[in-house]
Amino acid sequence: MVEVGTDISKASTYLKQGQLVAIPTETVYGLAGNALDVKAVSSIFETKNRPSFDPLILHVASLEQVNPFVTAFPEKLKRLAEAFWPGPLTVLLPRKASVPDLVTSGLDRVAVRVPNHPLTLALLAQLDFPLAAPSANPFGYISPTQAGHVAAQLGTQIPYILDGGACAVGLESTIVGMEEEQVVIYRLGGLDISEIESLVGPVIVQAHSSSNPSAPGQLASHYAPRKPFVLGDLTELVPQLVQQGKKVGVLSFSTHFPSLSADRQVTLSARQDLKEAAQRLFMAMRLLDESDAELIVAELIPEIGLGRAINDRLKRAAAQPTH
Ligand code: TXA
Ligand code: MG
Repeated sequence: MVEVGTDISKASTYLKQGQLVAIPTETVYGLAGNALDVKAVSSIFETKNRPSFDPLILHVASLEQVNPFVTAFPEKLKRLAEAFWPGPLTVLLPRKASVPDLVTSGLDRVAVRVPNHPLTLALLAQLDFPLAAPSANPFGYISPTQAGHVAAQLGTQIPYILDGGACAVGLESTIVGMEEEQVVIYRLGGLDISEIESLVGPVIVQAHSSSNPSAPGQLASHYAPRKPFVLGDLTELVPQLVQQGKKVGVLSFSTHFPSLSADRQVTLSARQDLKEAAQRLFMAMRLLDESDAELIVAELIPEIGLGRAINDRLKRAAAQPTH
């Protein structure tokens, strides 16, 4: 069974041996391995049951450490990295041959980021290789935001989880790249677009779904609970379903339903704070998925700031799986 702890030396020993370790970041927990060791990288794909066309993010300790892996760092993207690293931003850059094909799924760009978590930054400082780390969940399921979430799902497959507490941001990183001179957002995430636009001007958002995505975070069905997950107007849906005798789980932005059992409803933020709602979203989806509810109903939240990324995840959770 997996060991959960805060021992950085132990984590680094496993990683140097080519084994996988779950690591905390400010966004979600990652399933990390030596990005330059093809065996370790392939065991990441196996452990997550992840298709090999879905490339991985390289995690490094500082902006300078990106250089050995990329052929260029366009000025606008560098400006963003300088402003927001360490932080919830992933940058797509033209890659050098030093990055294994398996990491980028053969694409000509590599995704890189400097995560903002003291334990993981200290761990990276002890390693002479970058960490490839997708979110530490089985492919398609909800991303983990606590060590316990990782233990529950991958606990029999990895030796160690570095426990950094609950993730502060709670949504995966925002992914940006350049097309021609234009900054493009490929995945909405924990860094609000307005913060990006304040530094580089208007951006294009290409975080749509497609069957052949350049980022499978774009797949229509992703981040999904196992129970039926329905979006709608809660004040209509909840009374209807209750009347039909359904055990309904409720994920609301701020409304509490006094008539419903407390262990079948989660309010993301009673004070309607978007950061708090983002931080609690995946934990809430998991709690309801594990409750005795037959189905989960949820509502979209205001489409402003982080609300856009939260709604993106809610819509994908509600989409019918295609895989
Ligand atoms: O916040 C995060 O980004 C977390 C933490 C652990 O750092 N990681 C994460 O990784 O969300 P993952 O693998 O679950 O999602 C990474 C996304 C995928 O949708 C992948 O397709 C995209 O990044 N991606 C990675 N490399 C890419 C590339 N070279 N070109 C296009 N998309 C890429
Ligand atoms: Mg993921």
